[in-house]
Amino acid sequence: MQTVNDKLKILKEKNAHVNLGGGVERLEAQHKLGKMTAHERLHLLYDNGFYDELFRFVQHHATAFGLGGKDLPADGVVTGLGAVRGRLVYASSQDFTVMGGSVGLKHAWKICEIMDMALKAGAPYISVNDSGGARIQEGVDSLQGYGRIFYYNTLLSGVVPQISIIAGPCAGGAAYSPALMDFIVMVKGTGQMFIAGPEVIKEATGETISAEELGGAYAQAAQSGNVHFIARDDADAIEIVQSLLSYLPNNNTEDPPFHGTGDLTIIEDEALNHVVPDDPRDPYNMFDILQMVLDPGSLFEVHSHYAKNMIVCFARLNGRVVGVLANQPLEKFGAIDIDASDKASRFVRFCNAFNIPLITFVDVPGFLPGVEQEFGGIIRHGAKMLFSFSAATVPKISVVVRKAYGGAYLAMCAKALGADRIAAWPTAEIAVMGAEGAVNVLYRGEIKSAADPQTRRKELIEEYKLQFSNPYQAAQQGMVDAVIEPKKTRAYLSVALESLRNKRELRPQKKHGLIPM
Ligand code: HXC
Repeated sequence: MQTVNDKLKILKEKNAHVNLGGGVERLEAQHKLGKMTAHERLHLLYDNGFYDELFRFVQHHATAFGLGGKDLPADGVVTGLGAVRGRLVYASSQDFTVMGGSVGLKHAWKICEIMDMALKAGAPYISVNDSGGARIQEGVDSLQGYGRIFYYNTLLSGVVPQISIIAGPCAGGAAYSPALMDFIVMVKGTGQMFIAGPEVIKEATGETISAEELGGAYAQAAQSGNVHFIARDDADAIEIVQSLLSYLPNNNTEDPPFHGTGDLTIIEDEALNHVVPDDPRDPYNMFDILQMVLDPGSLFEVHSHYAKNMIVCFARLNGRVVGVLANQPLEKFGAIDIDASDKASRFVRFCNAFNIPLITFVDVPGFLPGVEQEFGGIIRHGAKMLFSFSAATVPKISVVVRKAYGGAYLAMCAKALGADRIAAWPTAEIAVMGAEGAVNVLYRGEIKSAADPQTRRKELIEEYKLQFSNPYQAAQQGMVDAVIEPKKTRAYLSVALESLRNKRELRPQKKHGLIPM
């Protein structure tokens, strides 16, 4: 008969076996590639390296292609829960050393169970991807497994934050799970994602491209915009996730963590009065303004490699988390194009789902003109911004810094889209379009017949600017609440944010609207 000690010995042996994953050789191979193992990644993620592993003895039931009776430790994925900076977080971490971290039915089942637990507990879910994709031997069972993962990703969406780390291969349909989550962090050099790899592409279209060029971190961050953060290595990826979590609530019924004292510190920064150049055509760096207005060191940029003409970041104002959107005049003069629209509206949707107030800094000359933009669907994509801001019920505050022209001004969350507070700097130009364009449309005949067309054109432009290129007409109409000195921006936003803390806005019941997709 087995004694209790015998039973404990067996348990210890089994645990050791599981922790070694696919064996010492494979673990070493993983390290040689600069990758951590599935357990090491979780160890680093969780406070004091402690996590509660669940389902470690789950095994596949597959029999085909030599899988029958084959022992796959933890079925190739470590699943569990623990505390990240003191808050409950659920995670799954694929183990590439066990049959390439491939996804069979039970592997997928474990991931879904963890997601279901995260959903019920109202806690964030982190997935570490390092996998050869569908476990070939399990055939359609594997597809069924993936389908369930996608289903749970969708159930969790908007209820608890979902963050994906891609720290190895993530190819084919497997890439759709990260794509369904809120944020993707990809490790440079080892992470890769694509629907069809270089060989398939070569066969299908004749194009030649390396796997890194196609699916590496930079390509997926800067070209496709699928990746939100590039990490130097696994440890950096985990640090990014920990920092990101510090801005997010546990779930959609809670507010984000508050790091302030509760005191309203009203600081005026004289330097803000001198950021915007005298010539409205000169660019400046919008980050200079953001750094001066928001809490020092709190700016956490998202999607920094993609659509740089639109800045989106989390930050804190007097300790309160805010989602910030700003046009960047250094890139495409801050004009909104298709990619900027997608980037901005996705961020607005996320912030609204998780009770994060929105602040916009506006300096936008318009939507980017061009045949490519029109044929690419700028109307549909730009409409996403109008939709997402209009639909957002979190506090919405805007600061018009300089140009605010036409539909693009509305798309940056104007009063008409439900902005709760709007301040304009004296340098603001709120108008249907810029002075040059307007004068060309309105006075073409008069300019043509003038004795000196150039001089007359200039005079008309100046007249137009005097009348329209300022914030006062909009202020007269109540489209702007206040015209403020730039140095008072932090004070203005602080008061506005505090006064909106208990904002409640009810909307008509519906199944869902149709965001222009
Ligand atoms: C079963 C797999 C596997 C898979 C890898 N392995 N991928 N086993 N199913 N999908 C096994 C290998 O046989 C090998 O086992 C071990 O994992 C390590 O793999 P290597 O090839 O030695 O590693 P590496 O050279 O680093 O190459 C990694 C890789 C390659 C690029 C990911 O393994 C690969 O191309 N795998 C197949 C990828 C694939 O086509 N997956 C299906 C995609 S379709 P041994 O015992 O030799 O160590 C898909 C559909 C999902 O995912 C649809 C959802 C809707």
